[in-house]
Amino acid sequence: MINIAVLGYGTVGSGVVEVININHESINKRVGEEVNVKYVLDLREFPGDPVQEILVHDYNVILNDPEVKIVVEVMGGVNPAYTFVKSALEAGKSVCTSNKELVAAHGAELLAIAKEKNVNFLFEASVGGGIPIIRPLNQSLTADEITEITGILNGTTNYILSKMTDEGSDFDSVLKIAQEKGYAERNPEADVEGYDACRKIAILTSLALGKQVDYQDIHTEGITKITDAEIKYAKALGGSIKLLGMSKFENGTTYSMVAPFIIGGDHPLATVSGVFNGIFINGNVLGDTMFYGRGAGKLPTASAVVADVVDAARHLDTNIMTIWDSEKVTLGDMSSFECRYFVRTNSKEAEVEAAFGDVQYVTVDGLNEVAFVTEKMAEGDFEAKAKELDVIYRLRTAF
Ligand code: HSE
Repeated sequence: MINIAVLGYGTVGSGVVEVININHESINKRVGEEVNVKYVLDLREFPGDPVQEILVHDYNVILNDPEVKIVVEVMGGVNPAYTFVKSALEAGKSVCTSNKELVAAHGAELLAIAKEKNVNFLFEASVGGGIPIIRPLNQSLTADEITEITGILNGTTNYILSKMTDEGSDFDSVLKIAQEKGYAERNPEADVEGYDACRKIAILTSLALGKQVDYQDIHTEGITKITDAEIKYAKALGGSIKLLGMSKFENGTTYSMVAPFIIGGDHPLATVSGVFNGIFINGNVLGDTMFYGRGAGKLPTASAVVADVVDAARHLDTNIMTIWDSEKVTLGDMSSFECRYFVRTNSKEAEVEAAFGDVQYVTVDGLNEVAFVTEKMAEGDFEAKAKELDVIYRLRTAF
């Protein structure tokens, strides 16, 4: 029997216990012995829930129990999760987590401790919910130099943008539904301002490079300023607006960002709607590959966590190599990042052409303004030229 402990009995934690109960036979078969949830740690009581019998309020009970071989951390937030996870690894227990804040901030250090102690620190659920993406990056794409990672990495914002696009719904009411469905972070600012996607692209980029990408260095914009007008212009251009986490690896320079983009209808991520996430990767020998699935929610996220438990149980005394050194990557300056820009302006077409030369105009019924898409240009050049106009709004595009 392999005893595990689950830290946190919220949406994901209760999902982990549920998945282990629902699929206990197949999970035990795949592990080769029984996986037993010995403890659940939470400050709250859950009267009437069978979890009450294994509920503890003191983490030291778990830390000091040598029978617990695997700790599942699904509390979220950096503290006290960091202290708990670090001490579990130092005590020779493997840790499986869905906690992107923790992984983005301390991934390199926690992996190093796991390696030293010959245990594992696994975090499949920290990016893309139930989508396998960490393991593919670590184990399947190892023949390639990664040239691009572009992902719809946040289910809540994709759900909001999809509903605004497909049904004309307003931002606040859709956010409320996403919260009710258990997609959103406790503080939904982390979703709508792009902070959650920022942690996730930082993790993927760190793994692609095998070095530390600090999430604080990643240019991050959210979706709170997107209105019905931008949605309509995107449609008029044959595309839609998606919040993308993007890293491009160009001639030794890494550009990383989170921002809303207009993407064309033929973009591989164009059909990724609702709570679904999609992660598009280009490798220099493989070419394009894409990963798709449910990026948030109780059971999809728990599925990825429990798959990590199975992996940890199969490798109890063997460290699965994950290359993520603490050496910090200096990201490329956004002023050199190139794309085509969509602009809404109160300026006249003649002024637009004086600043940008040839552009592609776009119109939407009922909007009395000039809107256009530039040629591909560096962000620094774009910003300098845009200063000559009275810009209402601008968006990057991935045409
Ligand atoms: N709030 C996150 C999302 C949960 O909406 O994608 C999964 O990380």
